[in-house]
Amino acid sequence: DWIMSSFIEQTVADIREKVGSKKVLCALSGGVDSSVAAVLMHKAIGKNLTCIFVDHGMLRKDEGDQVETVFRKQFDMNLIRVNAGPQFLEKLKGVTDPEKKRKIIGEGFIRTFEMESRKLGKIEFLCQGTIYPDVVESGTGDAAVIKSHHNVGGLPKDIGFEGIIEPLRNLFKDEVREVGTQLGIPENLVWRQPFPGPGLGIRILGEITAEKIAVLQEADAIFREEVAKAGLSKKISQYFAVLTNMRSVGVMGDGRTYDYTIALRGVTTSDFMTADWARIPYPVLERTSDRIINEVKGINRVVYDITSKPPATIEWE
Ligand code: XMP
Repeated sequence: DWIMSSFIEQTVADIREKVGSKKVLCALSGGVDSSVAAVLMHKAIGKNLTCIFVDHGMLRKDEGDQVETVFRKQFDMNLIRVNAGPQFLEKLKGVTDPEKKRKIIGEGFIRTFEMESRKLGKIEFLCQGTIYPDVVESGTGDAAVIKSHHNVGGLPKDIGFEGIIEPLRNLFKDEVREVGTQLGIPENLVWRQPFPGPGLGIRILGEITAEKIAVLQEADAIFREEVAKAGLSKKISQYFAVLTNMRSVGVMGDGRTYDYTIALRGVTTSDFMTADWARIPYPVLERTSDRIINEVKGINRVVYDITSKPPATIEWE
């Protein structure tokens, strides 16, 4: 609509005035907010923007490549993709505590970003995808911390920038999506469900290994495919697969199996503070389960999580 197109025009003009011919750095996560912020910034200053995309190896299936394609091929941006998966796995070896995982992944992310940004020489501004609800939330001092959330938006402010630019700080999520659509960002990215910073790292219960990541990526991709096929993607706020740490007995052909259980989680919510479990139609769950068992090696049981938040949280860790 015209309000958002005039927002785009005005913001591009403001950025140009503020930045001039100086350089800007942006941390791209592939999420809606950082993507829209980056494209807006790119529209304003083109090649004076550099984006760093830290791929911690715990993204969903093919996600890293998709981010690369959109920003490098479609928008022709200066994009640096850092494939840091092996380093993250090394640091996570033997770690099973959810909060420790978050801490390691969060810190690793910042270290990696800093290391890469130092290689780039002088950059005056940092662009962040902070949106209005983030501004409000961090202003309240917040209640008890149930899970320490780290977001790509939460980079340290002291890594040597002249200033921070937050072009979306007055927008709500739906407005960010509208701006993203008008900027030509692909639909699947603009409508992407929230994905936690630590990624699949907090959807693998217990120790994280490369094999477990691969198994979970496959199962999760099947679930998302079936939900999309059923036309439910926009109706369920968040849905994903979790790789539990539990193995149980099954039967396959004439043989006995002893494999892991995948849990499927789907919720509907308006604010993610409380959530109801999504009443996904049985046929969708059935197809998902059949496919996971048949197509993903190492899984012999699929369960669906029917707990609401509270008392459960949306993520399992
Ligand atoms: P919970 O599990 O606390 O999740 O009900 C609420 C929302 O927050 C997301 N979430 C995270 N996001 N870093 C993030 O950036 C995190 O460590 C993290 N933990 C949970 C979760 O996906 C849901 O949307």
